[in-house]
Amino acid sequence: PQESKWQVWTEEQVKRTFHKREQGAHKGTFGTGLLLAGSDEMPGSALLAGIGALRSGIGKLTIGTSRFVAGILAGRIPEAMYAHDGLEKVVDGQVPKGMKACAIGPGLQDQEAVEGALKVLFQSDLPLIIDAGALGERQYPSRKAEIVLTPHPGEFSKMTGVPVPDIQKKRLHYAQKYAQDQEVITVLKGRNTVIAFPDGDLFVNETGNAGLAKGGTGDTLTGMLLAFVSSEKDIKSAVANAVYFHGCSADLWEKTKAQRGLLASDVSELLPVVMKKFE
Ligand code: APR
Ligand code: MG
Repeated sequence: PQESKWQVWTEEQVKRTFHKREQGAHKGTFGTGLLLAGSDEMPGSALLAGIGALRSGIGKLTIGTSRFVAGILAGRIPEAMYAHDGLEKVVDGQVPKGMKACAIGPGLQDQEAVEGALKVLFQSDLPLIIDAGALGERQYPSRKAEIVLTPHPGEFSKMTGVPVPDIQKKRLHYAQKYAQDQEVITVLKGRNTVIAFPDGDLFVNETGNAGLAKGGTGDTLTGMLLAFVSSEKDIKSAVANAVYFHGCSADLWEKTKAQRGLLASDVSELLPVVMKKFE
């Protein structure tokens, strides 16, 4: 079958593609990311994704969320800027200026607002990372900038109509097919996350462990993806490296601590340690 040409995304590939921070850099060098996340019932998703983005080296971060959530986050993430009711603003066509990429979905529940925001974002030239509450069954428009989808198997099942057990039996096949049919980068999460590109390229990530099987770790990954996509030129390695480092944090944790005690916020906290040997 076609999907037989998959490769493991290896440490060598990370070394080859992950760039040292240029010494003359300023915050603009690394891009401003827009994070549309969090709702009154799930404020933590925006917090986790925001910290994931900042620990991954994003230059500037704007978090678009409800006033209530922004109030909670402001003291926890003083490094970010806040767009109050950011999702609704985007629905109204007001996308903050100067953004390099946008991530949408963690903790979002208002489907109508999400669809409205996506409609506006699809017409922009921003690379998009679409996760959690912003994933659904839909047709993606053909556009210049990339779209990255990050479903877990349950979300992928809702997107495709394929039952979860069937997906899990043929993860490479389904991820590749979806990426090619819809022309979107498909990150099918879970043990051995599959990363499929519209051109047929197919990678498997081998880092990470069951410590990551806990609410919030996906939100952290979305923030990391926002940072890497905002600041790296090559989207393929940006996506694959984010997935790789996310798993590495869990693997480093496991060396000295029980898997079950790992929190999504610990994944972000360990990122600077994990990335140290690559810069
Ligand atoms: N081995 C390696 N990695 C794993 C494992 C495992 N056994 N289990 C999970 N992971 C990784 C995944 O690859 C992914 O990167 O942990 C992350 C989990 O992401 P999600 O499934 O999106 O979890 P999260 O969003 O944090 O929490 C679940 O998502 O869709 C919603 O309704 C759902 O509220 C729930 C939330
Ligand atoms: Mg999730």
